[in-house]
Order: sequence, then C-alpha cells, then structure tokens
Amino acid sequence: MTSQVRGSQLARLLGQWHALPGRRRSPDYAALAAAVRGLLADGRLPLGVRLPAERELAEALRISRTTVTAAYRQLRETGHLASRRGAGSWTMLPGTHRVASTGLWTPLDDRDMIDLGVAALAAPPQLVPAARAATEDLPRYLGGAGYHPTGIIELREAIARSYTDRGLLTSAEQIMVTSGTQHALDLVLRLALAPGGNVLVESPTYPNALAALSARRARIATHGLAADGAGWDADLLLGSIRQTRPKLAYLIPDFQNPTGHLMPADLRERAVATAHAAGTDLVVDESFVDLPLDGTVLPPPTAAFDRHSRVISIGGMSKPYWGGLRIGWVRASAPQVQRLAAARVGVDMASPVLDQLVAVHLLADAPTIVAARRCQLAAQRDALLGALAERLPDWRVTAPRGGVTLWAELDGPISSALARAAEEVGVRLAPGPRFGLDGTLERFLRLPFTLPAADLVEAVGRLADVRYDLDRAARPQWREATVIA
Ligand SMILES: Cc1ncc(COP(=O)(O)O)c(C=O)c1O
Repeated sequence: MTSQVRGSQLARLLGQWHALPGRRRSPDYAALAAAVRGLLADGRLPLGVRLPAERELAEALRISRTTVTAAYRQLRETGHLASRRGAGSWTMLPGTHRVASTGLWTPLDDRDMIDLGVAALAAPPQLVPAARAATEDLPRYLGGAGYHPTGIIELREAIARSYTDRGLLTSAEQIMVTSGTQHALDLVLRLALAPGGNVLVESPTYPNALAALSARRARIATHGLAADGAGWDADLLLGSIRQTRPKLAYLIPDFQNPTGHLMPADLRERAVATAHAAGTDLVVDESFVDLPLDGTVLPPPTAAFDRHSRVISIGGMSKPYWGGLRIGWVRASAPQVQRLAAARVGVDMASPVLDQLVAVHLLADAPTIVAARRCQLAAQRDALLGALAERLPDWRVTAPRGGVTLWAELDGPISSALARAAEEVGVRLAPGPRFGLDGTLERFLRLPFTLPAADLVEAVGRLADVRYDLDRAARPQWREATVIA
C-alpha cells in the first residue's frame, strides 16, 4: 500500500532542515538528505511512501532542483530511497530492517529493579473492599451456568452509563465486556480484519497493539506523530487514509500511548468522515480517557462523530483502576456486539463473573477513585519532569496533559543502548524502537510516571549516570537508526 507525500507536506515535516543542529559546512543537498534520513529514523516519515517529484519539492522548499536531485541521489546511495524511472521514489531503510514487535514482557523477579517498562499503577485502596462486596453479590449468579459472553448486565449498564455521561448516548446492548483492552482489540481484529489486511497505526504506538496486528498478519502502514506540538498531522493522516484506504485504522486519540497527545475535536470529526468515505473502520483505544491532568477538558469521544457504525471504541479498567482485574470492553453497534460475542465463544467463552462484580463496585466509586489517581499521576509526572530537567537537561520533553507516560526526545539515537546500560544499574526501560516498526525511533524513550515519585527520581539519577558513560560519539542529532534485531 503506497501513499504519497506532497511537496508542501514534506516541506512542513522538514521544518528548519537547513539549520539543523550538528550541521557544519555540509552542502545543502547533504543537509537535505540528512534531514530526510532523520525523519525516517524518527518514524515521522513512514517507509514505503512516495516522495514528491524533484521539481515539486524544490518549489516547496524554494531551492534549486539540482539540490533536490543530488539529495535524492544520496538517499538512493545510502539505501533510503528506491526509484523507478517514470514511477517515482519510495522511502525505505538500508538492508532488511524489519523488527518484529513481539510485545513480550516478562514479570520482574528482581525487587531492586525500578521498572519503567510498564505503564500501569498499583491497585487503589478501594480494590479490596470492592472485592469483598463482590463476593457478597456472587450468590445472585450462582444459580446459573455463569457464562455471559457479552458480560453481566449490571457491568454493561455501568459501562454504557459512563459513555452516556461523556455525551455519547450508549445502551447496554452496545457494550461487550472483555478480559482487558488487549483482548478487546484482539477480538475486534478477528472480526474486522482478514489475515493480511491493510492497517494504519500511529508511530509511535502501543507495542502490544502491533503484536496483535502481527498475529493477524496485518500489513501495517504508519502515520508519524510529532513528539511535540499537535502530534497528529491532520493533512498527512487524512491523506493516507484517503490514498491507501486501509481496512482498519487503530488510533489512541485520548492521551496517546506513548506520546500523551490529545487529538482535537475537529480532527476526530474529520478522521471519522474520511474513514467512512474510504471504507475504513476506526478502532479507537480509549485506555487513558479517564486520566486527564491539570483540569484538561476532553473533546467529545471519537464515536460521537460517527453516524455509520465506523468507529469501534475499546477501553478498560487497567489504567484508572488496576491491570490485574483484566476487565475491558468494546463499544460498538448492537449487531457488531453480537458478532463479537459469537467470535468470542470460540476463544474464551466469557469473562469471570466475580471480576466483573468487582468492576461494578469500582465503577460505582469512580469519581473518588479517579480523582485520587489524577492527583497522584500529576504529582508523579511533575517529579519526573523535575528530575529530568535537573539531571538530563539535554533531553526534550513536553509535559503531557493526561495519561501515564511521556515521550522523551533523547540527545542522540541511543535508546536501545541506554536500555541495555540501564538494566545494569537496576532500571528497566522500554526503548523507543519498541513503539514502532522497522527499527526507527532510536532517539526516543517512553517514560511512565506510574511509580512513586521517589522511585522516578532515583531512576532518572541512575539513567543520568549511565548516559554519561555511553559513547559520546553517538551524540550528533541526525544519525542513522541503530537497528535492533
Ligand atoms: C493503549 C493501550 N491499549 C491497551 C492496553 C492493554 O490494556 P489491558 O490491560 O486493559 O489489556 C494498554 C496497556 O498498557 C494500552 O496502553
């Protein structure tokens, strides 16, 4: 699936390419080629897209065509561009750099290790009372077989109410309870995506979503998010949906994991309309929607702009409440929920009744629990930002307005090397390339603020120590991506 980048779009992505840090006396064509390689390494410019014709880019950048010709030639020589006479030039990375994203995560047995690889909070104090209350409720269900493929009705009603409270009228028939958001995604993919189907995802994105897509043998194209500013480039996102007409697009509009970006209302509306026109289903992951910080006001849910059952929303209890509960859900049309339930019977039949009852009790206490979570997360985020400013001032970070992670832009393409070094000093990291395809994103690191402030400060101190020891030669900005196998 090929999509095309227009001259004006590439010019916008390139920004101040002629004045990039690290540029000394290199000629313009070399600086332009280096800037394009930088965009590829950062995942901002996807692989396999057609670049503008030389003349078009020259006009957009207001430079001579010879400069663009020389830059494209250099990109071809370094293996970043493939050209066919008369057909155009496509982006690529040198060699075969596809990196499988298994999303594998092994629980820690080392208690001294500070785990920044997992972005999830410990359970809230209300969990044990909720579990006790749930056991009191259980006898009401013991007279039946206990299989509820779409979930027990009281939980589906509570989840439906939470959507209605957000301004999206929802009935219990539109909700299916799953064993976590990951399970919700897997089921939706089973239903909506034939093996080998085309999918569009953000880059960076949630690694386990990539794992679920790989399991469906999906053909994945990416939309590169900016680390700072608005995140999504509306023109490019909508353009690639229009051009490539993917079967499905997986988006995380509410405090995106890992960048923390919040998609504005107008882009939600345009994305839904464009997806409908292209015949694309939008799978919208709302894992972090309950966690706006600093009083940030949320735009309407993406599904609020949907009039054609194009949007399937998924969410769960893991981020605001506890991951160990394994409760998630799908919000879709009632017929889609029925089809999902039928598909689920061949997978795991139904979710545990007792856990669903615990979720009912937690949701009844939602305002108190979620308010405390937001306070806790804001304080931890600020402690992390403070420690980074003090110990690693060369890293660029934007304070996220919600969610549980920030996406740090490092002072070189060192993310995997840093993760290896950090392991030695008792800090576990998920390096940037885990959040993308093809070994890009080496200049980035996801840092969750889900641990207590003291742990975060200690971890940053250890990272600063090992950063100092890493090869200083890795510092220049626009280097090739370090490839991980
Ligand atoms: C965007 C996103 N989707 C899904 C999940 C998985 O959530 P669950 O624990 O509910 O399966 C996570 C967990 O980190 C996530 O960040």
